[in-house]
Amino acid sequence: MRGALSCRQLAGVVLLAPALALGQELKTADEYRAALQDKFANPGNLVVERGERLFKEKRGPKNASLEQCDFGKGPGVLKGAFAELPRYFKDTDRVEDLESRLLTCMVRLQGFTPEELKKKLFADQRANEPNTDLEALAAYVAVQSDGMKLNPPMKHPKEREMRAVGEVLFHTRIGPMDFSCSTCHGQDGKRIRLQELGNYAGNRADAQKTMRTWPTYRVSHGLLRNMQHRLWDCMWQMRLPDVDYGSPMVVALISYLADRGRGAVLDIPGIKR
Ligand code: HEC
Repeated sequence: MRGALSCRQLAGVVLLAPALALGQELKTADEYRAALQDKFANPGNLVVERGERLFKEKRGPKNASLEQCDFGKGPGVLKGAFAELPRYFKDTDRVEDLESRLLTCMVRLQGFTPEELKKKLFADQRANEPNTDLEALAAYVAVQSDGMKLNPPMKHPKEREMRAVGEVLFHTRIGPMDFSCSTCHGQDGKRIRLQELGNYAGNRADAQKTMRTWPTYRVSHGLLRNMQHRLWDCMWQMRLPDVDYGSPMVVALISYLADRGRGAVLDIPGIKR
């Protein structure tokens, strides 16, 4: 049903209705954004609730919950964990972001295979699908850092290496369009239609503004989206092949962005266009 509004997109419209009902026209990106800021009306919270149920449920071949997963602050400690991701994990000898760490725990604690888990990563908004389990779980873990400052550790050499690789990747032109991330996100004040692109290379304030609101509910998708999805989407704009979920390339870019956004106070789930 392309073209028709899905229930979730309709929910987004209803969300905007109070502003529209006042006879206001939402003319600028700022007005549009302001109309979306009612946190309690954020439909993303429903996805977070589902994530919590899934997190605590015994699932997978090992019939275990994810409650013993270590996101960097010890097994079972969720508070503040996302604010300090990506980070180096000794047990995998890798730097992992939120989503790749989640995958690690689902494999190790619950006995799923990576192949099974990667079959359906993101809900397809055109097919009117609900958020996937992975999206809901990641959102639930992330939200436990709401109100905290983004502060990814940079002590371990591999953390510093990941961030450095991310910076290089950010500026590297690749693919048939010969775009780099900085082609679109490397100058001040750039926009595509109403969307401000943000200068993540030069301006810490832009990176902070962006990083503080992910995961975010995207009204135009009627779905909660995470950073893995955002970068997958940008790489699609660069006409790159589908990047592997949690691949070192994406984790490196997220390490760079999180470091650039350091100090931002998380306001999640966010809500945007
Ligand atoms: C062809 C232009 C283009 C390229 C190249 C591109 N992006 Fe984007 N990016 C966009 C657009 C358009 C948006 C959506 C902005 C919006 O809707 O507010 C976006 C959004 C984002 C966001 C979220 C912004 C926010 O405030 O929520 C991040 C983070 C991001 N891009 C990172 C990257 C990275 C990292 C790369 C390189 C892998 C990249 N982008 C490459 C166009 C691009």
